[in-house]
Amino acid sequence: MLLLLFLLLLPFVSPAERCHPNDKNALLKFKESFLKPESLDPLQSWDPVFDCCGWALVECDETTNLVTGLTILSNVSGSIPDAIANLTHLDFLRFHKTPFLVGEIPPAIGKLSNLRYLEISWTSVSGHIPEFLANLKNLRFLLLSFNKLSGSIPPSLGTLPNLYALDLSRNQLTGSIPESFGHFPEEDSPITIILSHNKLSGEIPPSLASVDFSGVDLSRNNFSGDASMFFGTRKSTSMIVISRNNFKFNFSRVSFMESLVTLDISHNKIYGSIPSQITDAILLQELNVSYNRLCGEIPSGWKLKYRPEGFDNTSFLHNPSCLCGMPLGPCKP
Ligand SMILES: *[C@@H]1O[C@H](CO)[C@@H](O)[C@H](O)[C@H]1NC(C)=O
Ligand SMILES: *[C@@H]1O[C@H](CO)[C@@H](O)[C@H](O)[C@H]1NC(C)=O
Ligand SMILES: *[C@@H]1O[C@H](CO)[C@@H](O)[C@H](O)[C@H]1NC(C)=O
Ligand SMILES: *[C@@H]1O[C@H](CO)[C@@H](O)[C@H](O)[C@H]1NC(C)=O
Ligand SMILES: *[C@@H]1O[C@H](CO)[C@@H](O)[C@H](O)[C@H]1NC(C)=O
Ligand SMILES: *[C@@H]1O[C@H](CO)[C@@H](O)[C@H](O)[C@H]1NC(C)=O
Repeated sequence: MLLLLFLLLLPFVSPAERCHPNDKNALLKFKESFLKPESLDPLQSWDPVFDCCGWALVECDETTNLVTGLTILSNVSGSIPDAIANLTHLDFLRFHKTPFLVGEIPPAIGKLSNLRYLEISWTSVSGHIPEFLANLKNLRFLLLSFNKLSGSIPPSLGTLPNLYALDLSRNQLTGSIPESFGHFPEEDSPITIILSHNKLSGEIPPSLASVDFSGVDLSRNNFSGDASMFFGTRKSTSMIVISRNNFKFNFSRVSFMESLVTLDISHNKIYGSIPSQITDAILLQELNVSYNRLCGEIPSGWKLKYRPEGFDNTSFLHNPSCLCGMPLGPCKP
């Protein structure tokens, strides 16, 4: 009976160590590199006595037992440790809401060639977005929002062959969108780019016309000129948000994809009228063309799949009084 109990408990008493010693060493070095983590910090549970594949925030591959995922959500303070470079099999790396994480994105990150998901968000990481991120050819997600990044967007990011989502929002980025962003290979995975809340400026490179973006958010920058290249009936874009910039182009000349769900062009200097072909966008749920220089009659007869009640006047306000028709006042004959 006792023997049976012992045999039943055996796997719990002395579990086989799955963790590879190199990975464990790298994780321990990684932990030690941070300045005095607080006692409640999840990293404090990283005890070398136990299998690192069981540590909080660490993920190991089921078959190889190599460390493939690391999520740091804590009050660690200091910069991203170079020891991360020795976790060579990482495909998922996330630093999120780590306000005391400072310094620049280190070259060590550029050595993690298996990364498919890299997120550094809501941190105090500063400096430029490094060119070497373009070496991470497997990247699908590059999410660097809510940091203190400055400088311009490296053109080399446009060469990432597998990128699916690029979020650089809420930093202090300057300069313009690189021309190379017109060359994202988009055949099997339309890309979403989110560059909102930065200090970006200049005109949008015409090369972007050839990309079928899944979504584009350029709001709250100081872009100017034409943004009509994001439109077109043959595209499958679901979100176009270009509000609060300095865009100035003739809206009469754009055409709308049926896939459009969110369209916000508010707070620009966009002129012309709202083309009646917009009624093809039956999936549209959010529309805002307010604070522009639009004129002419608002198209009627929209049959919106998810918004049968249509749009109220706040979607159209603050244009010249020649923008008219429901839900604004009637057009003067
Ligand atoms: C992290 O720090 C913040 C602010 O100092 C504090 O409110 C929070 O409780 C801390 N979190 C942990 C897990 O220690
Ligand atoms: C990576 O691992 C090697 C071998 O274990 C070690 O010599 C080196 O110092 C480690 N590098 C870092 C940055 O921790
Ligand atoms: C925005 O760009 C325009 C030129 O297009 C420039 O005149 C203006 O000063 C810029 N505004 C800011 C806040 O940088
Ligand atoms: C805008 O484009 C329309 C259609 O091509 C044209 O009729 C109109 O004159 C243009 N408006 C301006 C101000 O250029
Ligand atoms: C917008 O609509 C609301 C409610 O339908 C109405 O009270 C308001 O006067 C309208 N505003 C303008 C500027 O037309
Ligand atoms: C449109 O944008 C304006 C300005 O930002 C805002 O006041 C208004 O509430 C928005 N309307 C809708 C329907 O989103």
